[in-house]
Amino acid sequence: MSEETLQVVVRRREVQGRDVVVLDLAAADGAELPPFDAGAHVDLHLGDGLVRQYSLCGNPAERRTYRLGILRDPNSRGGSVAAHERLGEGARVEIGVPRNHFPLAADARRSILVGGGIGVTPMIAMAHVLHDRGQPFALHYCGRSRASCAFLDELAAAPFAGAVHTHFDDADDAQRLDLPAILAGADAGTHLYVCGPAGFMDWVIAEAGRLGLAPGQIHKEYFQVEAAAGGGRAFDVTLARSGRTLRVAEGQSIVEALAGVDVKIKVSCEQGVCGTCLCTVLAGTPEHRDVFLTDEEKADNDQILLCCSRALSDTLVLDL
Ligand code: FES
Repeated sequence: MSEETLQVVVRRREVQGRDVVVLDLAAADGAELPPFDAGAHVDLHLGDGLVRQYSLCGNPAERRTYRLGILRDPNSRGGSVAAHERLGEGARVEIGVPRNHFPLAADARRSILVGGGIGVTPMIAMAHVLHDRGQPFALHYCGRSRASCAFLDELAAAPFAGAVHTHFDDADDAQRLDLPAILAGADAGTHLYVCGPAGFMDWVIAEAGRLGLAPGQIHKEYFQVEAAAGGGRAFDVTLARSGRTLRVAEGQSIVEALAGVDVKIKVSCEQGVCGTCLCTVLAGTPEHRDVFLTDEEKADNDQILLCCSRALSDTLVLDL
């Protein structure tokens, strides 16, 4: 996992929709930034140890700017509020180099991009790339209302505006997201991408499966997870390198239990989203609560996200 970081400056800041701040970040000297692929995100270091992940929503061909859209969520654990309050124009901020857990499928012949609310951000970068490649796609943007949604003016002016479809909860039924119609005629070359609130994503993924898409044709990026590390029964963790065993209590995360014996694990999202706390499992069976590992990786049971996942077996042996 790369820990390389960059210092950038907020060149432009604009509040759009209901509480979405759109930030253009650039190098202080205007130099090109490291390249990124559509679907990538960056870690934003917000001070006081707060690190949060946000998708890059600009055109990857634009090499001097990273664009982010951040929804202010007063119920979040502080990241989005800090971004809104601390990142004014001219502010300097440290970010990680782009990483991508949500890439476009190389073999897709037709792409359906579905973004719920702020989950539209990676879809905008994908739309730029697919348009530039001349590949067929449609972008479906779902939101509570027109007034609540950011990026509408930008999408209306984009060269791919004809491929953008909006769906608002407070508008008439005729414009609602109709997945059976959208996925009609889907074949093995059709790929669906979805990002948004967990409940919305779960519904889209279940519907797409019911309509015949194979798991490998459905690509997802969670930015909000409702599962927490707490709850669950207590279990033991053995650290293979020292032979030490410690108890993870009910309601305690593995990261917290390790911190109690001075073993510091680097964390970022603390929600099983980013992969920062990934660790190898040498024995035992994890109870996976993350959304970072694929279903296949979870079935292998040889990796675990220590910030949120627990154990089904009495003991987990970790490569620590
Ligand atoms: Fe992000 Fe654990 S800190 S997955």
